[in-house]
Amino acid sequence: MKNSNIYIFTALLSALFFSCNNANTKTSVVKSDDIIEQKIDSIIALMTVDEKIGQTVLYSSIEDITGPVLDKNYTTYLKNGQMGAIFNATGSAFTRKLQKIAVEETRLGIPLIFGYDVIHGYKTIFPIPMGEASSWDLELMKKTASIAAKEAAAEGLHWTFAPMVDISRDPRWGRIAEGAGEDTYLGSLIAKARVEGFQGKNLADKHTVLACAKHYAAYGAAQAGRDYHTVDMSLNTLKEVYLPPFKAAIDADVATFMTAFNELNGVPATGNSFLLKDILRDEWKFNGFVVTDYTSINEMVPHGFAEDLKHAGELAMNAGVDMDMQGGVYKNHMKASIEENKIKISRLDEAVRDILRLKFKLGLFEDPYKYCNEADEANIILHKDHLEVSREAARKSIVLLKNENNVLPLDASKKVALIGPLADDQFHIIGNWAAKGDRDGIAVSVKEGFEAQNKAFSYAKGCDIEGGDTANFNEAIKIAKTSDVVVMVMGESERMSGEAASRTDLKLPGLQQQLIAEIKKTGTPIVLVLYNGRPLNLTYENQTVDAIVEAWFPGTDGGHAVTDVLYGDYNPSGKLTVTFPRNVGQVPIHYNMKRTGRPEDLEGAHSRYVSKYIDVENSPLFPFGYGLSYTTFEYGEPQLSSNTLSNNGSITVKTTVTNTGNVAGEEVVQLYIKDRFGSVTRPVKELKGFKKITLEKGASTTVEFTITSEDLKFYNNKLEFANETGDYDLFVAGSSDANFTSSFTYK
Ligand code: GLC
Repeated sequence: MKNSNIYIFTALLSALFFSCNNANTKTSVVKSDDIIEQKIDSIIALMTVDEKIGQTVLYSSIEDITGPVLDKNYTTYLKNGQMGAIFNATGSAFTRKLQKIAVEETRLGIPLIFGYDVIHGYKTIFPIPMGEASSWDLELMKKTASIAAKEAAAEGLHWTFAPMVDISRDPRWGRIAEGAGEDTYLGSLIAKARVEGFQGKNLADKHTVLACAKHYAAYGAAQAGRDYHTVDMSLNTLKEVYLPPFKAAIDADVATFMTAFNELNGVPATGNSFLLKDILRDEWKFNGFVVTDYTSINEMVPHGFAEDLKHAGELAMNAGVDMDMQGGVYKNHMKASIEENKIKISRLDEAVRDILRLKFKLGLFEDPYKYCNEADEANIILHKDHLEVSREAARKSIVLLKNENNVLPLDASKKVALIGPLADDQFHIIGNWAAKGDRDGIAVSVKEGFEAQNKAFSYAKGCDIEGGDTANFNEAIKIAKTSDVVVMVMGESERMSGEAASRTDLKLPGLQQQLIAEIKKTGTPIVLVLYNGRPLNLTYENQTVDAIVEAWFPGTDGGHAVTDVLYGDYNPSGKLTVTFPRNVGQVPIHYNMKRTGRPEDLEGAHSRYVSKYIDVENSPLFPFGYGLSYTTFEYGEPQLSSNTLSNNGSITVKTTVTNTGNVAGEEVVQLYIKDRFGSVTRPVKELKGFKKITLEKGASTTVEFTITSEDLKFYNNKLEFANETGDYDLFVAGSSDANFTSSFTYK
């Protein structure tokens, strides 16, 4: 550290020490948070406007870019104190090198924070978030997030741009892969679990990182599922469906928020003071900092919301954005805006305070290099315990969608033909947004999984994921003819989900369906294993193959996990958290839609004049909450403690669940409630509770849920979050497509 820096810090800390001591002599104990605020006051008092603006600037290194418009001069800005944070710089050695510039070569030596997209693992990769969500195992998701944080922190990172908590009901949208699916209740619980996993109990713990709730807000409702497209919705829908997971992240003390690219009701999220000030700061009392998405300030010009970049910067800063990711707008234009009083210095000080507070909480002022420890890397990255969790997470994420004639689990004595473009894959298996995940040798393919189990099998790729080459069909057909069962591992490429990857056709790409048709002609039973980042249109496959195993992109140990399920070493327990449509024409389709005035099941309704299609039924191919097991479960009639719920009372709902099959298994027992009518129309059903249980064959257990009047609240016709008296129906089942069995009255 240069002498000048040492002088400044000494002066700063002694001034603080004196003030704290003073405070103590007045017998008032100064809380650590107050001490941090006092330290921040002292630093801000020393900062020039340029140095303050520098703290609001985030640039990508050029080692790993995640968007357009790359400004390669970040190290120059760093030396000039014009940057407060860097992303896409990883490795203890590299981050130490950059941190030394900030701490030892700038006037005040304020440490940097290093961010990165650690979405579903850092080096050990877990299933994509929507895959993990299908486990309905909150503790597991917290554990994988904590492992991801530990590996990322071991390589010098302080901050992950996760969890993505966007609710999405549109499989055309590629980023549906990154979230928890279509349901707000489940998505909120998963948001909480992931924030707690990333941040742990103490941000100063060097095995934890800052989390970032993104993309605020309603990014998942992009029109026509087209990425970055317009979002327009009622405030009821915004507050009822899309905002609660963000509030759940706040309740879990999430450190940062990221604004979304999209506009919301005509105002881009990055310049939206209703979202950023009225709700986030005033209503939710958020005290972290808000970063934009990648150049999303700049994009307010093409949005047609800002006249030019300087105006965009003023709109963003004044709406409540604290840090500019990659846009260079705050760096290049804020000083002029301050001089013209279009941004008040007090607003800039607020942003700097929010950023410095988290640098203090991370412990970076005490030791800027605490996360840069090469020795830690070797002991933590890809630790065998982490790989075991990767296999466990992949196993639990797998959803069995079909199993005709119990073709699964496979009999070890049967000869298998292993076919498909993803059967021997180690590249796509870890999915999109896979951070530093290895795509060339470390990930375990299904073929390796079979080899590890010494299974008798033959292999042929058959076709590519995309393209029209049938040259390898015959080799696949040949081994299918001489085998007892065919396992086809197919799906999407990892590039077909995630950002900028919307699809208008949800079928298996390329010639994969044609290959299935050819293999079907051989008469050998077919097990289809899928790698995909969205619900697909599986109508043809469902009519053609004997079993369908939804593996999503299962991560580093995916090949072992898929093999474990296929051979019954693990009994699949996953349940869908997103609806699979019969075809793309049904989209958007989700389990909790409105009933309409002409529902199909309306008594006495004319069969023609009801809300339906003339070419496909309304129901989805596979519904939310659905997933099969190698065993079967029977549900008894729910027993309610009362059929009347008072305002401060509660009703318990007890249901006996029995494993009526021949093997032990896990079941996600789900509680759904229907509000028959309200001051605004209500969904046909809503998930209000779930419990994942394990039952030995023949065993039974009683699962209990408690319903209170809090569970009945919604945003009414006055936009108040309130409940309303009336009659409610409920059921308890292993999927959302069961019938109501019980009812109660809320008085
Ligand atoms: C991308 C994504 C965002 C990511 C950021 C940094 O454009 O929208 O989710 O965190 O840029 O890579």
